[in-house]
Amino acid sequence: MKLKWESISMFQQNTFLIKLVSASLITCLAFRFLIFRFSQFSPVQVSVNGNSDPQISPPSVILSDNEDIIPGDIEVEKCDLFTGKWIKDPLGPIYTNKTCGIVVDGHQNCITNGRPDSGFLYWKWKPNDCSLPRFDPKRFLQLMRNKSWALIGDSISRNHVESLLCMLSTVEKPAEVYHDENYRSKRWHFPSYNFTISNIWSPFLVQAAIFEDSNGVSSAAVQLHLDKLDNTWTDLFPSLDYAIISSGEWFLKTAVYHENANTVGCHGCPESSNMTDLGFDYAYNTSLRYVMDFIAKSKTKGMIFFRTSIPDHFEDGEWHNGGTCKKTEPVSEEEVEMKVLNRILRDVEISQFERVVMEMGQESGNLKLLDFAGMLLTRPDGHPGAYREFRPFDKDKNAKVQNDCLHWCLPGPIDYLNDVILEIIVSDRTGK
Ligand SMILES: *[C@@H]1O[C@H](CO)[C@@H](O)[C@H](O)[C@H]1NC(C)=O
Ligand SMILES: *[C@@H]1O[C@H](CO)[C@@H](O)[C@H](O)[C@H]1NC(C)=O
Ligand SMILES: *[C@@H]1O[C@H](CO)[C@@H](O)[C@H](O)[C@H]1NC(C)=O
Ligand SMILES: *[C@@H]1O[C@H](CO)[C@@H](O)[C@H](O)[C@H]1NC(C)=O
Ligand SMILES: *[C@@H]1O[C@H](CO)[C@@H](O)[C@H](O)[C@H]1NC(C)=O
Repeated sequence: MKLKWESISMFQQNTFLIKLVSASLITCLAFRFLIFRFSQFSPVQVSVNGNSDPQISPPSVILSDNEDIIPGDIEVEKCDLFTGKWIKDPLGPIYTNKTCGIVVDGHQNCITNGRPDSGFLYWKWKPNDCSLPRFDPKRFLQLMRNKSWALIGDSISRNHVESLLCMLSTVEKPAEVYHDENYRSKRWHFPSYNFTISNIWSPFLVQAAIFEDSNGVSSAAVQLHLDKLDNTWTDLFPSLDYAIISSGEWFLKTAVYHENANTVGCHGCPESSNMTDLGFDYAYNTSLRYVMDFIAKSKTKGMIFFRTSIPDHFEDGEWHNGGTCKKTEPVSEEEVEMKVLNRILRDVEISQFERVVMEMGQESGNLKLLDFAGMLLTRPDGHPGAYREFRPFDKDKNAKVQNDCLHWCLPGPIDYLNDVILEIIVSDRTGK
């Protein structure tokens, strides 16, 4: 379920590193003056394949307000909820490990696992131009009477759905009404509100054959069909009132790519292979193009959020080679820069989102962007780190443990995504 970086073989890590370094160099050279800014779409185009042609061109549209992206719309939202800072909040989270122990995946249950500091719980998100009301779970449930939601994507989506369930559980406990064979996709129902929420496991959003055991050790490259959407989510899609769709880091895995029933290339290709290394950005861009076109053509009644991928905070290494995250406080925008890989993923996401919105025009009103990348980039303190396991240092104070600097502690900063989403829904309802 987690992103298993260990599964990348030594050889592939090396090629991966070379590509990463060349990509970083290119990016640095061409754009050393462009620092990542929130809600600013950078026109960087990097092919991680090596044959890079960085182009500097003015962004075709400058959108200062992500959730109000409808061209020609006269009502312009005054407040960009995604641009702001974290401020101290003595109130802290609306739930605790006691009120929401069972819903939370053990690996994100940081307080129960013995994370010693709790300062990271006492910050709230403050958009620059308005104040964000504290999440009101009762209000959320009242608005969602008879409605159906799905969060579609990878383990970050699951992390997010658990956060939302914990917040709503303070009003009513949901009943789990469905799970698939491997407990990866699940559905819950809030009986008093007749509100249904699903978590759909579809890490690539397109059809994928994944050859991994339960420890995430892969025996063969992923076979990815870039032009065939995964019907675990597309089947459910027409019935949904709200969906949050996302993808991202799984595309970094070693994979063979198929299009139009032909093998077209690979990423992290084995040395003996005669396939073209197309780079993961090619695969992600192609897949997202099909995803976006499907959403655009579906003419769904639902409100569809496309969430950009969320940056990780591994320092001094990555998931697979001892990276850690030891910060206990938020950092400022100036202190942090998005990693190259995270930026490449986000650039592809923004460009496909912009493309489909331009093509759809007025009809894109139901498709909204959730770009939490900047907001969460400043929260390196919000991850489980070593506390993804129960009391990791009880036996040995210096134990070497796997750190998680990608998923989020619950409670934790990811909870504030729901404050923002509720505000967007309320604004949309009241036509603000
Ligand atoms: C919550 O965390 C505290 C502190 O680690 C722990 O003592 C308690 O047992 C936890 N409660 C639950 C229900 O997990
Ligand atoms: C919810 O559905 C029930 C039964 O179909 C209906 O009586 C009720 O008015 C609906 N409530 C809302 C808020 O749509
Ligand atoms: C619950 O909501 C669904 C729509 O999501 C509706 O079809 C159904 O009638 C509702 N049931 C009740 C008992 O309100
Ligand atoms: C590439 O490999 C495939 C399968 O191993 C083989 O059928 C094909 O002839 C090879 N093509 C070239 C150009 O070597
Ligand atoms: C992504 O695809 C679009 C066409 O949909 C193309 O214009 C763009 O250059 C591609 N970007 C990357 C990074 O491959």
